Amino acid sequence: EQSRQIAQILSEFRLTTEQLLEVTRERSTQDSATVKMLPTFVQSTPDGSENGDFLALDLGGTNFRVLMVKIRSGKRRTVEMHNKIYAIPLEVMQGTGEELFDHIVQCISDFLDYMGMKNARLPLGFTFSFPCRQTKLDAGILVTWTKGFKATDCEGEDVVGLLREAIKRREEFELDVVAIVNDTVGTMMTCAYEEPTCEVGLIAGTGSNACYMEEMKNIEMIEGDEGQMCVNMEWGAFGDNGCLDDIRTEYDRSVDDFSLNPGKQRYEKMCSGMYLGEIVRNILIDMTKKGFLFRGQISETLKTRGIFETKFLSQIESDRLALLQVRSILQHLGLDSSCDDSIIVKEVCGAVSRRAAQLCGAGMAAVVDKIRENRGLDHLDITVGVDGTLYKLHPHFSRIMHQTVNELAPQCNVNFLLSEDGSGKGAALITAVGCRLRQELN
Ligand code: BG6
Ligand code: GLC
Repeated sequence: EQSRQIAQILSEFRLTTEQLLEVTRERSTQDSATVKMLPTFVQSTPDGSENGDFLALDLGGTNFRVLMVKIRSGKRRTVEMHNKIYAIPLEVMQGTGEELFDHIVQCISDFLDYMGMKNARLPLGFTFSFPCRQTKLDAGILVTWTKGFKATDCEGEDVVGLLREAIKRREEFELDVVAIVNDTVGTMMTCAYEEPTCEVGLIAGTGSNACYMEEMKNIEMIEGDEGQMCVNMEWGAFGDNGCLDDIRTEYDRSVDDFSLNPGKQRYEKMCSGMYLGEIVRNILIDMTKKGFLFRGQISETLKTRGIFETKFLSQIESDRLALLQVRSILQHLGLDSSCDDSIIVKEVCGAVSRRAAQLCGAGMAAVVDKIRENRGLDHLDITVGVDGTLYKLHPHFSRIMHQTVNELAPQCNVNFLLSEDGSGKGAALITAVGCRLRQELN
């Protein structure tokens, strides 16, 4: 009876192909309604002519980085990168905007000292992994914070302006902010530098999002019909109009209710690293209440939000791990488990991450099929540049996601290319093009 009830709970996370197809269909008919489709002012992928020394910032994923990127064009093109990771304390992520940007500039200052380059006035590309309404390459108004950020006085402001002001306040060095770049776009560009068929970017990490090269004539917000422009889909907001309600569970709703942005980013909350552990925790609490787990005792640990980070899920689900080791991970988190408990916990993690991978795949199927239809093709070969801790560290996520795309978009042959260098390199490539265009105009 108990195992039947456990199976019953987990069956809510099992999606049929029909349900997934429905997600794909909804996704492709719904552009611009809840999903924003933001123009990025990136009009081409790299061609190898990019050249110069650039600074890059990379804010919004697991790590905040400052990077120095040296790009050399020509026959033997090379990219040399130096970077440092800096912590952003929670009270800075959720303090005032001024504190956040002062902190960022403080980190740049430290990095320039470290590189011995305080006086160089370098061009800078800013990877800022949040939805921004761009009017040009170097202006982006923050639509809304997502994931774990909630600094005051930033929403509705031009983030490039906020960065420039903070640099001025410090009166210590000058920089030339040339581009603001979403991490999906940075990732696509990083991969496209090696593989020209890469025209889509995907992040499966703390957050979930994608971008792709769209025909200019399909981008209403921008004048001109010639060529292409990369569009940041902000697909994490998919479902905010209620279209995913049929497949959301009570656990999804509870994760949403207690998040920093209730009611928003509903799709992201079902498929990205920041939330999967929370879904798992909510299921475990429910199962414990019902007496199926932990001898019916809800410990203080289990009540703690955020204990299950992506890396723990990845460890628990690793097939190389014996159940005894699963128990020791749980022990480490402060959860005293029996052998039976550890089996159930592993099943719960598996159900949640499988659904996440399938939903992400359903979204990607919609993207590649749209590109195929745009081009009037029966068959499309395309490369997707991917990054993110969930994709990279989880033992099953990438495989299930790939399978789902193949099943739901059978007319596309999708090649996934893992970005080895993060989105900072792509931001530097975009900055290089931005600098060149500016010179040509002058
Ligand atoms: C990195 C990018 O490689 O991938 C980040 O450089 C990005 O900017 C990240 O946000 C996504 O992964 P995660 O898992 O750290 O959110
Ligand atoms: C969130 C952000 C989006 C970003 C994604 C991945 O969804 O809103 O801009 O690309 O996370 O980091």
